[in-house]
Amino acid sequence: MKRNATLLIATLILAGAGLSFAGDSATDGVVTDNRELVEMPAETQAMMRAEMRDHLMALSSIMGYLADNDLATAAEVAEERLGRSSMGKHKGTRRGMGPGKYMPKEMKKIGHGMHDAASRFATVAASGDLNGSYVALHDVVAACAACHTSFRIR
Ligand code: HEC
Repeated sequence: MKRNATLLIATLILAGAGLSFAGDSATDGVVTDNRELVEMPAETQAMMRAEMRDHLMALSSIMGYLADNDLATAAEVAEERLGRSSMGKHKGTRRGMGPGKYMPKEMKKIGHGMHDAASRFATVAASGDLNGSYVALHDVVAACAACHTSFRIR
């Protein structure tokens, strides 16, 4: 409860100060979106966005397990939903319609980096090292942030 209240206050302060956010720049109150547009078919876009929402759910559940000191389950969730094991899962749904083939090289690299980081996190968490798990989880979140700052699909 206390953590939620702190987050809310921080959000309100940021909004009130009218700061510009990562990937944007603001001149005289006009915000420019500097992210590179990556075009893909509507179906692929919807697939990617659904996958992204699952990434966020997975991250939330991983943090919950860490808070409960359940590192084994945090490791499982990370490997299955964010790690290398989760890669290429769209191929079964509709061949050739996955987002990967539309991504510029740099974007793909960040994506692979995120899957690698999640698998590394899973290994560290499975070993029972809580502090190491936080360090490894930061690499995962840093990859989310790096990609979101640089690319958009609409
Ligand atoms: C390789 C690039 C890349 C990585 C890595 C990445 N994302 Fe995304 N994500 C995107 C792009 C591009 C969008 C769409 C932005 C737009 O609307 O144009 C997006 C959208 C989202 C959305 C909004 C979905 C919707 O319904 O519109 C969420 C939530 C999200 N990402 C969460 C995450 C989380 C959490 C991670 C890390 C675990 C992550 N993403 C990693 C590129 C990435």
